[in-house]
Amino acid sequence: MESKVDQPHVIVLPYPAQGHINPMFQFSKRLASKGFKATLAITVFISNTMKLESSGSVQIDTISDGYDAGGLASSGGIQHYLPRLEAIGSKTLAELIIKHKRTSRPIDCIIYDAAMPWALDVAKQYGLHGAAFFTQMCAVNYIYYNVHHKLLNLPICSTPISIPGLPLLQPGDLPSFVCSSEGSYIAYLGRVLNQFKNIDKADFILINTFYKLENEAVESMSKVYPVLTIGPTVPSIYLDKPVENDKAYGLDLFDFNSSTSTDWLSTKPPGSVIYVSFGSVTSISSKQMEEIARGLNNSNFYFLWVVRASEEAKLPKGFKEESGEKGLIVNWSPQLDVLSNEAVGCFFTHCGWNSTTEALSLGVPMVAMPQWTDQPTVGKYIEDVWKVGVRVKIDDVSGIVNREEIESCIRQVMEGERGKEIKENAKKWRELALEAVGEGGTSDRNIDEFMSKLRRTA
Ligand code: UDX
Repeated sequence: MESKVDQPHVIVLPYPAQGHINPMFQFSKRLASKGFKATLAITVFISNTMKLESSGSVQIDTISDGYDAGGLASSGGIQHYLPRLEAIGSKTLAELIIKHKRTSRPIDCIIYDAAMPWALDVAKQYGLHGAAFFTQMCAVNYIYYNVHHKLLNLPICSTPISIPGLPLLQPGDLPSFVCSSEGSYIAYLGRVLNQFKNIDKADFILINTFYKLENEAVESMSKVYPVLTIGPTVPSIYLDKPVENDKAYGLDLFDFNSSTSTDWLSTKPPGSVIYVSFGSVTSISSKQMEEIARGLNNSNFYFLWVVRASEEAKLPKGFKEESGEKGLIVNWSPQLDVLSNEAVGCFFTHCGWNSTTEALSLGVPMVAMPQWTDQPTVGKYIEDVWKVGVRVKIDDVSGIVNREEIESCIRQVMEGERGKEIKENAKKWRELALEAVGEGGTSDRNIDEFMSKLRRTA
């Protein structure tokens, strides 16, 4: 039996945003529960602003993105942020490696967010193993792979778009960075394509999905890279329960009182509440906010709506009072507690990959309202591949989703025959998610394979 000190030490390095930290922190906890020493490296800014419930046996350490006082928001835009993150991030990651080199547990492997390929160069410079961690779905990564290798040329000229292992796609189903050349999207497109620029040097490629969820996309991707599916990275209490005290992600970038949402939900009948959230980044226009508000009110279901503090001023005037007992608006919620509450009948979501895998893992039907980045492709899968929800349609004239459409999609999920089928499918995907991470499941085996290869070579 190997003693603890013989076990590899990995640094897990997420891109500094909630939707990237959550899955990579969870993965660190799983590795630590299976014996590795895991250190989560976050930026100084995140470390100073986060609310950390508990990191369990995962150590927390820091690098710098060059914006210690304000992070991305203080950088003047993503075009400025990314080059500085790379320059200062590389330097401070190297310092972190050197610092640990002087201890009894030097680092063996950097598990880096694929969005930060420079971390692999640093790992290799110090003779360490490098594992790319893709936080988004395999199909989306495979689309980016096709664009990077010019197998799919931009701008898209002919439709539908046919990519092996993926359903036929319309331009509106593609990740937004591929379809638009609007301002900051060019920088974001560079970021997602760069994921592949040095990946041939990576010792491992991990994807936060599970095999049965995307079997055909995983098969396609496996023809070009030896990928390991390791998800979903949802806290284990909601899935297979093997990690002690693993009840929540445990690291929030927003201030909130978790009992406000759960106390309110506890007074509502099973399956009666629409939970609405657009994640940690998306900004919704005031006009769109008004249509969502009216659509929710007109549906007459209860709703719990997360409107981040920075978005609150866009709510229609007097809306909170108008909706009265029917609705609760909070700035942030304990999302997993909410989704697993039996009062919730449907998740009205922006289709962020974490929110989607959480809903799939907990068997919650969805109304999909994708906004940008990977979300349109996720929305396509929610409706047409997994059949666990209905995707809203944008009105041709107004360019936004109108209130009638919102109400109609909610009804299709909450009521009638289609609603029943969607609920059945949602249950099925939960079972398959459980199977994947449970003992001997595809993701569990892949995690073990990653760990044992690293033990042999570290
Ligand atoms: C971003 C991108 O927008 C998303 O498309 C990509 O897949 C990951 O990075 P974000 O928009 O924040 O993420 O969405 P999502 O991926 O859903 O992540 C949000 C996380 O915050 C989830 O884990 C969710 O559980 C959590 N959350 C959200 C809360 O804990 N409380 C809330 O009120 C809202």
